[in-house]
Amino acid sequence: MCGIIGYAGHRDAGTVMMAGLKRMEYRGYDSAGLAVVGDRLEVRKAAGKLANLERQLQTHPIGEAHLGIGHTRWATHGGPTDANAHPHLGPAGRVALVHNGIIENADALRAELAGAEFRSETDSEVAAHLLERAVVGGRTLVEAMREVVARLEGTFTLVAIDANTPGTVVAARRNSPLVIGVGDGERFLASDVASFIEYTREAVELGQDQIVEITATTHTVTGFDGTPGTTRAYHIDWDLAAAEKGGYDWFMRKEIFEQPKAVADTLLGRITARGELALDETRIDPAQLRLVDKIVVVACGTAYHAGLIAKYAIEHWTRLPVEVEIASEFRYRDPVITPTTLVVTISQSGETADTLMATRHAREQHAKVISICNTNGATIPRESDAVIYTHAGPEIGVASTKGFTTQLIACYLLGLYLAQVRGTKFGDEIAELVEELEALPAKMQAVLDDLGLTLTLARDLLREPVYLFLGRHVGYPVALEGALKLKEIAYVHAEGFAAGELKHGPIALVENRLPVFIVVPPRGRDQLHDKVVSNIQEVRARGARTIVLAEAGDDEAAAFADTYLPLPSVPTLFQPVLAILPLQVFACEVASQKGYDVDQPRNLAKSVTVE
Ligand code: AGP
Repeated sequence: MCGIIGYAGHRDAGTVMMAGLKRMEYRGYDSAGLAVVGDRLEVRKAAGKLANLERQLQTHPIGEAHLGIGHTRWATHGGPTDANAHPHLGPAGRVALVHNGIIENADALRAELAGAEFRSETDSEVAAHLLERAVVGGRTLVEAMREVVARLEGTFTLVAIDANTPGTVVAARRNSPLVIGVGDGERFLASDVASFIEYTREAVELGQDQIVEITATTHTVTGFDGTPGTTRAYHIDWDLAAAEKGGYDWFMRKEIFEQPKAVADTLLGRITARGELALDETRIDPAQLRLVDKIVVVACGTAYHAGLIAKYAIEHWTRLPVEVEIASEFRYRDPVITPTTLVVTISQSGETADTLMATRHAREQHAKVISICNTNGATIPRESDAVIYTHAGPEIGVASTKGFTTQLIACYLLGLYLAQVRGTKFGDEIAELVEELEALPAKMQAVLDDLGLTLTLARDLLREPVYLFLGRHVGYPVALEGALKLKEIAYVHAEGFAAGELKHGPIALVENRLPVFIVVPPRGRDQLHDKVVSNIQEVRARGARTIVLAEAGDDEAAAFADTYLPLPSVPTLFQPVLAILPLQVFACEVASQKGYDVDQPRNLAKSVTVE
């Protein structure tokens, strides 16, 4: 997620921009920039950390200005380079613009601007061109913004300035957040109140599909249709630390609640109007994909659990054998890899050494490698043949949450794409599954809106020494991931098992009041459901306290639950995207109640860059 700031007021704009960008560094970024309008429009931007931008400002100082925009970029379209850094300019350098979000129809719009000189690979620059073309054509910046947003598809917050109207900053918001800071003789625009909280605590939330024009003393809000906009003013009573987490106590908790949007963003632009998959980043010739006779998924930790779920989906849809390997084991077992093997590496950071070495090993064996990654331009995607980026935005908490659910989405997209390319699924079957994928964000939100029981459970079970997690089919990797979350942030013994494996040993662990979480598949899939219900009975008969995650209305499973956590109905293969949510929340709450550092748990790093 990018960080945006805009300013109109009496202070030095360059100073306000840099201070604001610093306040947003925690969000994660890979380039930064700013633009001001004093006696002229000036832009400074640089890949890498803010120190690079500061260096530029020292060697090439900007003139006095009291109006400007700033941006920290988390690369989605186009790698982290100076050219791709924001702000972006129109062709004549009259308008500067920063953008947060994904413009889905950027390629089509770029094609319309035939002959235009683009300086970057970004979708955002297209908006700068359109905006400048409109103001050069005589529109005010607000009128031009209104015209441009009517052409854009996707999610976007745009903030722009025009060299010829030095007193105003104009912004438009669709989905990605934007807040107005109301100061004395100054106004701020920001994706994050942390960037202006030191100047003012009075804020106005910009609503969906609204445009705002700020000057030093005014802010005028209208709808995309030009009608007056209603807004909500509020006083920010967070301290700065809380402001950086959007009011949440932990980045992990914030990221848990960002998952519906992260999943929606990861789906954006990958499904055509006809419900077909368009994974344009997979730069592997479909003819080669049709020759693939085996898939090997390689990853670590949470990403490995995502790979285990991918196996069920991809095998079912493509009829290709899928092996899932722990990266640190992969290359030491002398795996059978040939030029017709497709290796899929999954990594949130894109820097995990074990996974990187596995990638290199696969390529030495002449296999094609597709990387699923959340970090644009990271080492693993750079060393792969193709990449499917997840669009979760920076994941700050060490315990991966939105990284996991967006990895699942990317795996589903890849599986359906392979089925489409290889013809193992008809178009209407794929369209049906795509529809179910697109319904997931709303169902995830429904789960996150109803966490009362889960939070109570965390307090009731706070002092337990051992927790078991059971699941079958795709519920089994969910059990593993639920156990990992608890292990890594609450430092307790938690273990996930295949439910059918219980009777082969682990059931000896079950004793009175032992908490056992069981993920129950939706009803209807042959005996899968019934078998898991009997597993619940087995542990309950031995005194376990059963926490059952099952479809809402599943009375059969609920009958054996001490605590029943209902889930919205989804196809079996997609249930992990929902079932993991209460387990993430449970682990976060237990660790938080224990007083541990949820975001930076002991002994762990966000990215393990050593083997
Ligand atoms: C998960 O919560 C952990 N942070 C860890 O298992 C992580 O998933 C693993 O280290 C892989 O990291 P990556 O996705 O960045 O490669």
